[in-house]
Parts: sequence; structure tokens; C-alpha cells
Amino acid sequence: KHVALLFGGNSSEHDVSKRSAHNIYDAMDKDKYEVSLFLITKNGIVLSNEASHRVFDGEDEADVVKDEIPKLDMNNPLAPIINFDSTSDIDVFFPIIHGNLGEDGTIQGLLRLMNKPYVGSGILASSMAYDKDITKKILDEAGINNTKYVLLTPDNRKDWNYDKLAAKLGSLMFIKPANQGSSIGIHQVHNQAELESGLNDAFRYDNKILIEEAIEGPEEVEISILGNEDPKASKLGAIKVPADDKFYTYDNKFVDASQVQFTIPVQLPDGVDEQITKMALGAYKALGLKGMARIDFLVSKDFKPYLSEVNTLPGFTNISLYPQLWEASGISYTDLIDQLIELAYA
Ligand code: DAL
Ligand code: MG
Repeated sequence: KHVALLFGGNSSEHDVSKRSAHNIYDAMDKDKYEVSLFLITKNGIVLSNEASHRVFDGEDEADVVKDEIPKLDMNNPLAPIINFDSTSDIDVFFPIIHGNLGEDGTIQGLLRLMNKPYVGSGILASSMAYDKDITKKILDEAGINNTKYVLLTPDNRKDWNYDKLAAKLGSLMFIKPANQGSSIGIHQVHNQAELESGLNDAFRYDNKILIEEAIEGPEEVEISILGNEDPKASKLGAIKVPADDKFYTYDNKFVDASQVQFTIPVQLPDGVDEQITKMALGAYKALGLKGMARIDFLVSKDFKPYLSEVNTLPGFTNISLYPQLWEASGISYTDLIDQLIELAYA
């Protein structure tokens, strides 16, 4: 089979995607698959297989792009986005582009237009799961416990201040852009000044911002799901960030994760593991997901689980839990990729 890995992309998670794709590529059985790489630059230019390989081999992306731009046919308005060489020859696409224009249904729409099978969720499910506001509405409908929140937009922002939000959500809260990943634009808030500065930053990323209640003394737990109609769930993993970090930030995910503690698998008391597994599978069904998802939870001091978010193209970086949880559950990295590719056809 000829598999095309699509990665990079025009999102703040461009670099994370490059790391994910590299690991997936390394894990793929090259006797079984012919693999083409398509690195999408931050400007939306799709680099050729050969140029993408140069980046994988350590060349600076900017230098490779400089060589490639003169080769694009700029008379073709779609040249920058659909410049895949020999696409007709490709059997299946594996998009591993995190964030905007990757995880939000857009790439899935392009692949649908191209009439090619692809790994992961479809257009609508991707869009819904990527938008934390829509996700919560679907979770509420399905009766799956999640954190309380207030949705702020440029229109209603002036109607809310810290005191009014605190009366609804408690004194500690989180600001989250509705559409983002890797903790980008997330801020913890204890007062009006932090609310203002956090919102100023968050509105740079999106015009829908969630203000969410904080779950006191949370245990952060992640679970991996794999499958289409009859998905299976992995064991659970727990994440502990260093005491002086307020939450699992971009930096302690992708800059220096050495202080973060991962417990895989983690056993929780009182049947909470089973409860989380059931909630995750329920969310997967309710959102109509396909292929894979990593679903993240917060567990309160009294061991009540809250579904925090759903990631339809989760990280495959060295510290990412999606593949690690499957390894702990008996599925090797290479088998995992095989199964994901099989599921793209089903
Ligand atoms: N958005 C990052 C890649 C993750 O959820 O793993
Ligand atoms: Mg996420």
C-alpha cells in the first residue's frame, strides 16, 4: 500500500505535528508500505516527498521552502494546496496535522474531495470534537459529565467580569480558546487582572473563548480509543505536572517534559477507571468519531471524573500518551499504525 503522511500545517502546532509524523514514519513497516511524506508549510504550501524528506533528515524547513517555491505553478490557483506529486498512486492518506486546518475537518474535506480514504474521523466529527464549546454541548446531550463554563465572544465579553464569572464557576477558572490544541492560549485565572490579560491573549487565537471552572486537586487522566463502530479503549495514564506549574502547559508538553510524571497504567479507586472508560466510549459514539481519539479527563479530589477534551489527531511525539497507552495495553507502535490504516478503509 502507498500511504501518504500529511503533516506540519498552518497551525500553532506545526512543530508538534512534525514530531508526531516523524515517529509515525519511523514506526511504519516499510516492507508493507510505500510511504510518501507531504509537509505542509505554515503558508499552506505542500512540499514534495523529496523536499519533505530533506526536512525529516534535519535540514531547516525555511531553506527547503526557498528551493521549492520557484517550482510551484502559480498560474494554478490551487497549486499551493494541492501540489501532491502522483496523488493518483496513493491508496490512503494519514493526516497527522494537529490544530487548525488539520484537526478541524478542513483537511478531511480536502481528502473527501479527492475521494481518498484517510485515517481518523470525518469532516463533521472532526469539526465538532475540535471545538470545545460544541463538544460540551454534545457531551451534555449525551449525559457525560464535564466542567461548567461560560462562552465569551467579542460581543458578550464586556458583559462579564471576574466577580460575575466567579459567582458561577468558583474563584479559580481557566481561559481556553474553543479551537486550539497543545494548551496554547490557556490561562489560569484568580482575579480580574488575570482575566483581562488572559482574554487578550486567548482572543488572538479564536473568537470563541471558554471560561471553565477549575477542578480542585485534579488528577489528569488520559485514555486512548481505537476503532470505528466497535471502538476499544486502552488502559488509563495519569499526568502530574511539577508543583510550581499550574497546569499541563505547552512548555511542559513539548519544550521540557522532564519534570512531568507519567503513570501508565494508572489504577483509580472505586471503579473510577471503568467510569472513565465508559464516558470516553460514550463521547466517541456521541461525536461520531472514527479511527482514533485520545480523551482527556480531570478527576476531582472526591474522584469524580470530568471529561475535559477530545483529541481526534492526538500527538505521537515521544512523550505523547496516545501510542504509549496502547503499548501498555499490548498494541505495539507498528501494529497501531497498521490498525489505523486498516480502519481508514472500513
Ligand atoms: N494537540 C496535541 C498534539 C495533543 O493533544 O496531543
Ligand atoms: Mg487538545
